Amino acid sequence: MKVKIDEIYQGDCLELLPNIPDMSMDMVLTDPPYSSGGMASTTRARPTGEKYTVTGTKLVRPDFLGDNRDQRSFMIWCSLWMAQCYKKLKDGGLILCFTDWRQLPTISDAIQVAGFVWRGIFVWDKTEAARPDKGRFRHQCEYIVYASKGPFRKSSKACLPGVFRKAVNSREKFHQAGKPVELIEELLRISPPEALILDPFIGSGTTAVACLRTGRHFMGFELSEEYYEIAARRIAAITQN
Ligand SMILES: C[S@@+](CC[C@H](N)C(=O)[O-])C[C@H]1O[C@@H](n2cnc3c(N)ncnc32)[C@H](O)[C@@H]1O
Repeated sequence: MKVKIDEIYQGDCLELLPNIPDMSMDMVLTDPPYSSGGMASTTRARPTGEKYTVTGTKLVRPDFLGDNRDQRSFMIWCSLWMAQCYKKLKDGGLILCFTDWRQLPTISDAIQVAGFVWRGIFVWDKTEAARPDKGRFRHQCEYIVYASKGPFRKSSKACLPGVFRKAVNSREKFHQAGKPVELIEELLRISPPEALILDPFIGSGTTAVACLRTGRHFMGFELSEEYYEIAARRIAAITQN
């Protein structure tokens, strides 16, 4: 199967990634299923809507796939797809991978198992609008682990922030775990202008939308048919106007 730039494909990224020519991508920016939402495998195995939707949310979005692995299998699975991403990146290319507090150590381990040089983490601060937890600390942050394929190839002299403060706007959220487009646009500033960005877990297509809005190119995969269709519609709304 021949894959094309500025296209998304429906299927399992582990099956689709080998179709990409080696050393062809400038950056991987991705947001895999976290397999989080509980300390025990039984609580993690709940549907994603139960795990990640705040009680009383009016807008119902489809459940998504691949979010029920236990800790060891999540670690092995991440190292498998990350190793494929490593092959597809140009030398010096970066991988930026979203995670939560529970899976942060696993992602930083898996990224190194896959061959990357771990460069650090930065924070997505969801602001005080994020889910409160009375008597405890607010669930306000998610994290982005980043790493390079060999020596870091800098594409800009700009110093980007270590904390990105951006609230979720539910009217512009098309996925249970959807990220704000403006946040992804900010992260893309670390990549060269017109860069080709790979997202193996594109969900509702946020990475593609951000690429289109910043003059970059993308390739994306999504296992869920429902989310693939949502992503395709969001992309078409931009490209067909
Ligand atoms: C956290 S969501 C991504 C959300 C996305 N950042 C957005 O803003 O819409 C992860 C996505 O990966 C998909 N997924 C799970 N396993 C997959 C696999 N093996 N290959 C491709 N996609 C997969 C899920 O269906 C889900 O939509």
